[in-house]
Amino acid sequence: MPQMNRSLEHVGIGFAAFLTPPGPEVIRFTVGQPDFDTPKPVVDEVKAALDRGETAYTRTQGSVELCDAVAHHLTRHNIQAQADDVLITPGCKQAILYGLMATLNAGDEVLVLSPAWPSYDGMLKLLDCVPVHVPVKRENYHPDFDALEAAVTPKTTALLLNSPNNPTGAVYEPEEIQRIVDFAIKHDLWILDDMIYGTLVWTDYPYTSPASLAGGAERTLTIGGWSKGWAMTGWRLGWITGPTQVMDGVKKINVSAATHVPTFMMPAATVALGLEEETAVMAASFKQRRNLMHSLLTELPGIIVPKPEGAFYAFCDITGTGMDDLEFATRALDEAGVQLIPGSLIEGGEGFVRISYAASEDDIREGVRRLSQWLNSL
Ligand SMILES: Cc1ncc(COP(=O)(O)O)c(C=O)c1O
Repeated sequence: MPQMNRSLEHVGIGFAAFLTPPGPEVIRFTVGQPDFDTPKPVVDEVKAALDRGETAYTRTQGSVELCDAVAHHLTRHNIQAQADDVLITPGCKQAILYGLMATLNAGDEVLVLSPAWPSYDGMLKLLDCVPVHVPVKRENYHPDFDALEAAVTPKTTALLLNSPNNPTGAVYEPEEIQRIVDFAIKHDLWILDDMIYGTLVWTDYPYTSPASLAGGAERTLTIGGWSKGWAMTGWRLGWITGPTQVMDGVKKINVSAATHVPTFMMPAATVALGLEEETAVMAASFKQRRNLMHSLLTELPGIIVPKPEGAFYAFCDITGTGMDDLEFATRALDEAGVQLIPGSLIEGGEGFVRISYAASEDDIREGVRRLSQWLNSL
């Protein structure tokens, strides 16, 4: 057999091993997607677009209306994007890959605040770049600026930012984002800002975009999508915007890789961005479940869990139980019937488990009751 791409040997499979659907008797705290249906007006619009026959090739970066709608949506986060510099991608994930491809060269080092969503690591390795995992502060999962400073080398080219964060649930404060911008300016770095959870924030300060701060816009790629805030994971729709020169590169990559997202989905995605009430209801429900999950988890012996600030994950330090996270997750599944993600599947996540609260309140109560019974019986 001819040789394969050698970079693949270094690419992991993320959470996949612990995402296998278990039997119906198991409570799943593993799934990183909203448990809501896509809002009805969005579904109605995709059907109408199909009925109108919108099935042919179209504008590759996305329809004018959709790019306009994204640019308009971003103004609520104080991001001033030109609609012509917005590109629609098959999922936020692909937008991140395009952003990395447009800014990095093989051998470049990229700072990743760790633990991080595992796909960043895989993408960087696929591009023959080097993920440099910089641990966040253990007590609140916010950036450790001394550690970031110490990790910079002449090969450092970019920093990957994700706030609200998967897996930690942290939302960085506006002052911290300003420090990240200053740091990026000092070392002449790109910032790739994955704002996929930008509308799911439970703190009294909002998601803050580096592109909204002085000196940030010219070095930030803003990347997001519909999956989490609009309950549209399976639609595979994302966006990317940034400085025109970089976006010219991203457009070339998109034309070579995808051409465009399905034509009939574009008007539906536009409708989604105009919804206020439906998205607010979903966000309020996640906030309520955050409160419930956190108050129950804090009762568990041996577990420390800072209050999640955004997204729908609680990140628990389980070292006080005497188990490592793989043993904890394996035994939680086998002995308590609760599925969760062991942190050591992610670089820097050793000693932690990720618990998704995108589950019903009944499941949250029952799942934590089972964990409590199990841990107290040990
Ligand atoms: C931090 C982060 N970024 C991006 C994505 C991917 O989003 P999409 O499904 O739109 O590709 C996820 C999905 O879990 C995520 O957690």
